[in-house]
Amino acid sequence: MKKAIYPGSFDPVTLGHIDVIERASKLFDHLIIGVLNNSAKTPLFSIEERVKMLQEVTKDLPNVEVKSFGGLTVDFAKQCGANAVVRGLRAITDFEYELQIAQLNRVIDHEVDTVFLTTNLKYAYLSSSSVKEVAAYGGDISQFVTPYVEEEVHKKYKGKIKGKE
Ligand code: PNS
Repeated sequence: MKKAIYPGSFDPVTLGHIDVIERASKLFDHLIIGVLNNSAKTPLFSIEERVKMLQEVTKDLPNVEVKSFGGLTVDFAKQCGANAVVRGLRAITDFEYELQIAQLNRVIDHEVDTVFLTTNLKYAYLSSSSVKEVAAYGGDISQFVTPYVEEEVHKKYKGKIKGKE
């Protein structure tokens, strides 16, 4: 059985992430989305909220599972019995950063390989940070996230729209 993990912050999950998830779920028998619980960052959504949103948006993909993790990505891969890490690449700037992480991960654990999927051009500009930025100013994010996630993001900014305080 070919198993892979797809790690990330997913704060929140975007249509770009979903595109990568759908494609990776066809390449592997089982795909485990690893939501990073990073105490060094202050995410907009709690770990439970991010896991719930991912479960909601992947509910029609039977071979996709969502878990949270702390610590090293390669350790999480091992715990899951996976020997591949999936990452999406939007631009050359992503590549420089991702190549370094992939190489580092392979030095830490040579049994874990990274598989890069080039992001659908439709979403090449998209990031969780830009979704939050647009929403923080009261902008329309319906082209960037699913309706469920859109509602969850708007709930976070309700009554706190920048420039309208
Ligand atoms: O969605 P993101 O924030 O770009 O995801 C980054 C992530 C979670 C893949 C990366 O930060 C990560 O792997 N963190 C876990 C800690 C780790 O393994 N570090 C070693 C590589 S830098």
